[in-house]
Amino acid sequence: MGEEIIIDKSKSKEEIYQTILPQLEALIKNETDLIANLANIAAVLKMSFDFFWVGFYLVKGNALVLGPFQGPIACTRILLGQGVCGQSWEQKMPIIVPDVELFPGHIACSGDSKSEIVIPKIKEDNVLFVLDVDSDVLNSFDEIDAHYLTKFIALI
Ligand code: SME
Repeated sequence: MGEEIIIDKSKSKEEIYQTILPQLEALIKNETDLIANLANIAAVLKMSFDFFWVGFYLVKGNALVLGPFQGPIACTRILLGQGVCGQSWEQKMPIIVPDVELFPGHIACSGDSKSEIVIPKIKEDNVLFVLDVDSDVLNSFDEIDAHYLTKFIALI
């Protein structure tokens, strides 16, 4: 079955998020496989905003393990409390990092990453996975991103 996502990149960030939210919902609503759905969310975000890196780390035992992503190769395992992802997992809270060099303990999978946002997926007080988005530009993320990215992973 062919799938197409319609994106107008001339619109504002919030308008793009609003346009892709229902399209993502339609794309994943009939699929129950977690990896398939995470893969499509990563692809839609990468296509829509040309982010440097978009992907998921899944909680497996005592580590976050690299899952579906779009972008350059990345570190495969992150422990609880390590880096932005591990801290988001530990705190069960989204974290916005305007400048990765100013974030203590930031894990640099690529020197090209300048700012970052991590959103945890929480079910019954447990983190199942985190969504990590990296930009090669400083200050790329704010509460608008946190709001819509949280909605995206709520679709899962
Ligand atoms: N920077 C992240 C590591 C993952 S990569 O950015 C893909 C961190 O500090 O947790």
